[in-house]
Amino acid sequence: MVSDAPDTRTRTATRLLKSSAQLSYDPVVHIDWAAPLEPDRLFVPAHRCSLYGTPMWDGLTPGQQVELSKHEVASLASIGIWFETILMQMLVRHAYHRDPTTADIQYAFTEIGDETRHSIMFGKLIKRLHAPYYQPPRHMHWLGAAFKTLSNGPLTFGGTLFVEEILDQLQREAMADESVQPLVRAVNRVHVVEEARHMAYAREENAIAWDQLGPIERRWTQFVLGGVAYYTAVGMVNPRVYAQVGLRPREAYAVAQANPHWRESRKWAARKAVATLDEVGMIGGPGRWLWRKAGLV
Ligand SMILES: [Fe+2]
Ligand SMILES: [Fe+2]
Repeated sequence: MVSDAPDTRTRTATRLLKSSAQLSYDPVVHIDWAAPLEPDRLFVPAHRCSLYGTPMWDGLTPGQQVELSKHEVASLASIGIWFETILMQMLVRHAYHRDPTTADIQYAFTEIGDETRHSIMFGKLIKRLHAPYYQPPRHMHWLGAAFKTLSNGPLTFGGTLFVEEILDQLQREAMADESVQPLVRAVNRVHVVEEARHMAYAREENAIAWDQLGPIERRWTQFVLGGVAYYTAVGMVNPRVYAQVGLRPREAYAVAQANPHWRESRKWAARKAVATLDEVGMIGGPGRWLWRKAGLV
């Protein structure tokens, strides 16, 4: 018997479209960009700074710690823009092949709209902090270019889920932390609300797309997804941030990568994404060592 009841994909997308219509932000008008910054407040909770807990961190003055946290948040916003630009192209490619009268494709268009505003918001934040755009290193830039052109469904939605979950966890925590600059908390609030819908969509689409893959493409997908996880984890803080407080970038970057606090923070931020992707079966095969190398499993 043929049922007229909408399937879960349609139900999810319809709910997300309704929620988007009820609560979405225009960061250009909803955020007070002219509000003064507070001179002594951190831009990232201290325990989420990449050097926190190391002698190198203790050697910085409180002023330098604030300055470094500012550049770390600018680096995270830069990675955010980098990934959102990748995601927008992948969603456009996804929609190109499909029926725009369906709720799930209309939600893809809605999400592209959200991401365009987020990238403007992160760009305005970086500018407001008088920080540079921390463009990812050349190899990441070109790997990203290949990825956004060639990704299959599970890489589009699984990769998205991974990056969005990590950012979400860090932003959700900072948003509730009164030691953090109000401007950063306001930006995080906008992002957290809208990203919750994106993650629900990615979870749904990822499971559908993964089901359609054969065994060889599954292996390939596990491998590339491991690469996404690895480069995102090690690329969250651009080495150039350390030069802003007089540290040698290569040396400080190596200290951060070996810092157990920072590795623990990354693992904590990724834990939900890891659980979801692992449950689907996407962490494993030839990609597993990359997850391990990144310290995420
Ligand atoms: Fe976003
Ligand atoms: Fe998103």
